[in-house]
Amino acid sequence: MDEKEVQHCLSSKEEQSLLQQQAKMAAMGEMIGNIAHQWRQPLNALSALNVGLGMKHRNGKLTDAEVQKFKEKSNTIIQNMSSTIEDFKNFFQPDKIQETFEIHEAVEGAIRFVSDAYNTHSIQVQVNIQDKILVRSYKNELMQVLLNIFNNTKDAVIEKKIDNGMVTINMSESKNKVIITLQDNAGGVSTEVLEKMYEPYFTTKFESHGTGIGLYMSKMIIEKSMNGSLESENREDGLLTTIIIEKETKEWVYSI
Ligand SMILES: Nc1ncnc2c1ncn2[C@@H]1O[C@H](COP(=O)(O)OP(=O)(O)OP(=O)(O)O)[C@@H](O)[C@H]1O
Ligand SMILES: [Mg+2]
Repeated sequence: MDEKEVQHCLSSKEEQSLLQQQAKMAAMGEMIGNIAHQWRQPLNALSALNVGLGMKHRNGKLTDAEVQKFKEKSNTIIQNMSSTIEDFKNFFQPDKIQETFEIHEAVEGAIRFVSDAYNTHSIQVQVNIQDKILVRSYKNELMQVLLNIFNNTKDAVIEKKIDNGMVTINMSESKNKVIITLQDNAGGVSTEVLEKMYEPYFTTKFESHGTGIGLYMSKMIIEKSMNGSLESENREDGLLTTIIIEKETKEWVYSI
C-alpha cells in the first residue's frame, strides 16, 4: 500500500466511524422519542389520578379506601413506566455476544417498542408463526433492524394518511438460513427512492424527521454481523422487506 492508499484507507475508516457515531445518535434520538411516546399516556393517567384525589379531598370525600385505591393505581402505572425504561436500557446495550433465541421473540420484542405509536395511528401487526425457529445470533441488533423497518412503515402510513395501516410478518427457515418478510400497505416507493433508500443519508423526510441512516445501518448489521441480506421491493399496496440471516453467525465483525 502506498502513502496515498493508506491515506484513503484511513479517511474512509474515519468516515465509517463518523457514520457509526451518527447512526448511534440517530438511534438514540429515536429511542428517546419512543420512550416519550410510551410515557405520555401513563403520565396523563397519573395526572388525572392526582386531580381526582385533590377534588375528593376538597369535597371532604377522601376516605381511607380511596387513598388506598389511589396508591395501588398509581403504583401500577409507575411500575409500568419503570419497566419501559428497563426495556429500552437492555435494548440499548448491544449484546455483541451471540445468544440462542427464537426469531419470534425478537419480532415481538421490537413490536413492543412501537406498540404505543402503532396504536395511536391504528396500525396493526400480524405475525404468522408456524414453527418455532431457533437461531444463534445477535438479538438486540436484529430488534434494532426490525424497529427501523416498523418506524419507516409508521412514517409512511402517517405521510400517506393510510387509514388501516398494516404490517404482515412471515418467518420461515431453510437448512442454515432464516427468512423474515415484512409486508406493509403504506403505498410503497417510487423507482427513484427504491434505488437509493439503502444509501447513507438518503431520506425523503423533512429535516428533523429523518436522517436517512436507518436502512443503511440496518443493512450493515444484517450483512456484516449476520452474514445475510436485507432488501425491499414494491409488492401489493406497499413495501415488502426481506431479511435473510444465517441461523448461526460465526463472529462479531461489526458493531454500532
Ligand atoms: N415502508 C416504507 N414505505 C415507504 N417509504 C419507505 C419505507 N421505508 C423506507 N422508505 C423510504 O426510504 C427512505 C430511507 O429510509 P431510512 O430508514 O434509511 O431513512 P429515514 O427513515 O428517512 O430516516 P431515519 O434515519 O430516521 O431512519 C425514507 O426516507 C423513505 O422515503
Ligand atoms: Mg427510517
